[in-house]
Amino acid sequence: MRVLFVTPEVFPLIKTGGLADVSAALPPALAAAGVDVRLLLPGYPAVLAGLGELQDVGGPLMDLPGDAVGRLKLGRLPDGILAYVLDAPAFFGRPGNPYIGPDGRDWPDNAGRFAALCWVAAGFAAEAAADPWWRPDVIHGHDWQTGLIPAYLELRPDRFGGGGARRPGTVLTIHNIAYQGQFAPYILGDLRLPSRAYQMDGVEYFGGIGYLKAGCFYSDRLTTVSPTYAHEIQTAEHGEGMEGLLATRAGSLTGILNGVDYTVWDPVTDPLLPANYGPEDLAGKAQCKEELQVAFGLDRVPDAPLACIISRLTWHKGLDLVLETIGEWVRAGGQLVVLGTGDAWTEAGFRNLHGWFPRSVGVRIGYDEPLAHRIQAGSDVILVPSRAEPCGLTQLYGLKYGTLPLVRRTGGLADTVVDANPAAMKDGVATGFQFVNATPLELLWQLRRAAALYRQPDQWTALRRRAMTRDFGWSGPAREYEALYRSIAR
Ligand code: ADP
Ligand code: GLC
Repeated sequence: MRVLFVTPEVFPLIKTGGLADVSAALPPALAAAGVDVRLLLPGYPAVLAGLGELQDVGGPLMDLPGDAVGRLKLGRLPDGILAYVLDAPAFFGRPGNPYIGPDGRDWPDNAGRFAALCWVAAGFAAEAAADPWWRPDVIHGHDWQTGLIPAYLELRPDRFGGGGARRPGTVLTIHNIAYQGQFAPYILGDLRLPSRAYQMDGVEYFGGIGYLKAGCFYSDRLTTVSPTYAHEIQTAEHGEGMEGLLATRAGSLTGILNGVDYTVWDPVTDPLLPANYGPEDLAGKAQCKEELQVAFGLDRVPDAPLACIISRLTWHKGLDLVLETIGEWVRAGGQLVVLGTGDAWTEAGFRNLHGWFPRSVGVRIGYDEPLAHRIQAGSDVILVPSRAEPCGLTQLYGLKYGTLPLVRRTGGLADTVVDANPAAMKDGVATGFQFVNATPLELLWQLRRAAALYRQPDQWTALRRRAMTRDFGWSGPAREYEALYRSIAR
């Protein structure tokens, strides 16, 4: 079975969040499950440079929606997976963040940029196919950037009809419903969509054009990245306006939990750590902690509970709750290390916190992949107090690194962390701490519980060992995707 995996991000070439990690790890797991999978990526400079030798695919220069031109090329990701790339310099030939310009605003031509990606993806189904030698049975898109793919297949059979061949099945994975790709209605013509597409049963969304909406409407199947989030997005609290449509599509919507790429995230082998360690030998973790304290200028106290945050600093991540409560943790001898970028006010909040407690709170505003590994290894607790979290990967990395997750019970956090309540402790299944309501008081309560348990080293070590041996590898999820593809392959 052939699957075209269309994604706007892939680690290590271009990453703003967890989608990049998923796009790097799921395809090899699919390949191991017998799927013939190839990626399609936008031709950002880092992608063109990172795909090795590129060969031209298909025909001449393509003309794309949004008045740009591009070529389709084929290369290989560092791990050997084949990847097509849309080389369209006017759209993607910019360094930096893939969605946001240097002024902090969305690139003004984002609608055209990602319509072009979708147009080319749909072209794999056309009679004069984008790659005549490789025709996918399924096209699997990720997030709003790929939402127009099934819309093009459905609304432009003249162009993408495949000359009578049945069109590929389509899957759209929602990694975060808060990002929807909404644009002004008057671009419909530029998108090369017929005017009849502009209706509620179409691409129209609250008076504009919604890319994620279009994908949710036209895709054969929808998935999201945890079972709990699949339910949540059908409710007004989490649906971000899409709950009605998603409820009508409930029969086609499933939650498949993300996995972890343990070739990248494993403290036993991680080359980025000052010392390696595993569940049976935690000595290296103590060394990682000491080096982290030194790196952030914190007091070198081995038994000070050290919490960390590695996150985009946005409202959804609930970090304002940490700003309101962490003072007590610190005054009781705890420490905190923060790595993140995002909202100016959250960044300022953590900088201030460092100002108040320079020897207990370390803050690095920025994006630093190796540092993320060293923080995971050197900390005791990872805080993920998200208001919404489709899956969340940092708590899964925390489990593997013996850094117990303290999370809000939502989305994938609810599905992956077992709260250390008395029953779970007795049954030997606890792996972290959960709170329910996004209030400072509830978070504070969990910080107190974590600090108290930390003072009982035997219990803490038992919890830590259990967390480290939980398996969140990709082979299970890959089999679920494979079965899904099989059910719709044309
Ligand atoms: P999201 O995709 O919503 O940002 P996830 O938990 O799924 O949340 O994924 C976040 C990914 O980004 C993880 O791989 C995490 O380590 C990484 N990350 C987030 N912020 C930073 C940062 N400032 N520096 C390095 N890595 C980061
Ligand atoms: C999104 C979500 C995050 C998820 C990631 C990968 O960025 O916010 O929860 O882990 O996608 O699916």
